[in-house]
Amino acid sequence: MNRIYDNVTELIGNTPLIKLETRFNPKVEIYAKLESFNPGGSVKDRPALKMILSGIASGHLTRDKAILDATSGNTGIAYAMIGAALGYKVILAVPMNVSDERKKILQAFKAEVHFSSPMDGSDGAIVLAKKIYQENPDKYFVPDQYNNVENPQAHYLTTAEEIAQKIGDRATHFVAGIGTSGTLIGTGKRLKELFPWIQIVALEPTEPFHGLEGLKHMASSIVPGIYNEKMYDRKISIDTDESYEMIKLLAKSEGILAGLSSGGALAGCAQLSNEIQKGCIVTIFPDSGDKYLSNRVWE
Ligand SMILES: Cc1ncc(COP(=O)(O)O)c(C=O)c1O
Repeated sequence: MNRIYDNVTELIGNTPLIKLETRFNPKVEIYAKLESFNPGGSVKDRPALKMILSGIASGHLTRDKAILDATSGNTGIAYAMIGAALGYKVILAVPMNVSDERKKILQAFKAEVHFSSPMDGSDGAIVLAKKIYQENPDKYFVPDQYNNVENPQAHYLTTAEEIAQKIGDRATHFVAGIGTSGTLIGTGKRLKELFPWIQIVALEPTEPFHGLEGLKHMASSIVPGIYNEKMYDRKISIDTDESYEMIKLLAKSEGILAGLSSGGALAGCAQLSNEIQKGCIVTIFPDSGDKYLSNRVWE
């Protein structure tokens, strides 16, 4: 850790794991990995870097190409940051209704942003990115986070190993929300190999139109190619309002200003804690609250 870094991408990963004071069952411990400590501010730095580096290694991403993808925000910020650091142009399809803070960050990194209709959610951005690509396929490298195995692989190689090093065989449950599902599938796969008894728990918003930016309601979405129901043991539905209450709880009782999907993660941990006798739950807080200060949570 105590070294001089060559560029910002070397700061990705090795995020802190924090033991929460908050318990919903005195016999169930909860640990959260604070992914906001990545330089781009979210969990998505990990897969973005892995997909870009493997694109360079395979020869698919060359200096004359731009990185193009659909993203609900955090992956876009990660691409834009990494693109700026490594010298690649970044073009993004983003739903119009992502927060202003996110749009401004993308502008700062000089990414070219194309907006899709807010009514079409993250799927609208996927369709728009495809259209841009088809007009000029030779100009772009498309990491395609929804279908690229390097996305879960980033978590298999880093997130899971970091959790295993810190928590070891005490872990009984791994709980994570599903957007592309890379975090859940990749981390869950490796943790299960290391600790076969661990239960992998997916969190999904209760409704198609929810307020948990970054998460997907699978039944009403284009299902990502990397998503595989066989890779987790159970799914818990999380309610938006309850998740927002959890964000307030995290701020006032833990001093953690967490993002919307982190509130969802804690809401999932709460439900699980009430169902099990004892245990050690590890979860992911994908980003921090600073990009959501204008959200109704804080009104
Ligand atoms: C804030 C936030 N939470 C959760 C997720 C879900 O992570 P994954 O795509 O690995 O399922 C994302 C993904 O973009 C996100 O931005």
